Amino acid sequence: MQILDTKQLTKFYGKIHALDGLDLSIEEGMVFGFLGPNGSGKTTTLALLLQVVQPTSGTFSWFGENEQKNVRKKIGAILETPCFYPYLTGYQNLAIAGRIKDVDRSAIEPVLKLVDLWDRKNDPFKTYSLGMKQRLAIASALLSDPSVLILDEPTNGLDPQGIVEIRNLIRRIAGIGKTIILASHLLDEVQRVCSHFMVLGKGQKLYQGSVKDALTNQSTIELASRNMPQLTRVLTGFGNFQKIEQKDDRLIVSASDITTEQLNQYLISHGVVLTLLREKSGNLEEQFLRILAEHD
Ligand SMILES: Nc1ncnc2c1ncn2[C@@H]1O[C@H](COP(=O)(O)OP(=O)(O)OP(=O)(O)O)[C@@H](O)[C@H]1O
Ligand SMILES: [Mg+2]
Repeated sequence: MQILDTKQLTKFYGKIHALDGLDLSIEEGMVFGFLGPNGSGKTTTLALLLQVVQPTSGTFSWFGENEQKNVRKKIGAILETPCFYPYLTGYQNLAIAGRIKDVDRSAIEPVLKLVDLWDRKNDPFKTYSLGMKQRLAIASALLSDPSVLILDEPTNGLDPQGIVEIRNLIRRIAGIGKTIILASHLLDEVQRVCSHFMVLGKGQKLYQGSVKDALTNQSTIELASRNMPQLTRVLTGFGNFQKIEQKDDRLIVSASDITTEQLNQYLISHGVVLTLLREKSGNLEEQFLRILAEHD
């Protein structure tokens, strides 16, 4: 099912073209990353989708045309760290948030357990670590059992341990069937938690696809044979390589859309016997930098 559809969504802040004709579609169950450098329009896009700011032009719809009722209730979001009362406990803070959102108190326990704060529910908010505060914010966003969760830079300011906890939590939430949209300037984060992503640069969508494809499209394959001159000669004939380089006793080739099976088959049919064939998965960072460079 389609969760979100945008058509030529555009936002100007005065002369600043913060978002430029975004066409985007997100399917149920995706963990969708908005990836882009600072100022590329990620938060602007989220704010538009949450109707915090009005588009200059363009349209979007959530959950398809026939589901326009109670849309906002089906979306849990954290754009900025929400205000919790420092002297109240985690539980009491969620009780207040729940009253505002008109959800039953029974909703509190499962979300606190989900974010791993059940043991600390009776401690005052001010005694929580930054990571725990962020997890409480996520719990609060999940109180009304939304089908979509929106997060803006969810691991900003956290230490490595806190980052791992939040990323695991995001995977857990995806695992219970929620669609997640997150903005991040961290490639590594998108690579680790997202199933799909788009790259934004200066308000424009530069790329969209699945993380898996992005990682496998571009691969690096290591090869070795007892007869290296023959291997080099035959490989050169295969074509399609961006780069072939020799490193110690191995050849390293960069290729897109070539599997190790295809390569092996070709080499066997040309009489080359390999002593090594190993694929290293592609690096999203290289892809990301290339995409941004191509549009500079
Ligand atoms: N309220 C505002 N008024 C004026 N300009 C704004 C406003 N909000 C954002 N902008 C501008 O719009 C552009 C996109 O900003 P946005 O915050 O969406 O980027 P971002 O990708 O979220 O960046 P970051 O990674 O730093 O969070 C920037 O040039 C920014 O200065
Ligand atoms: Mg932002």
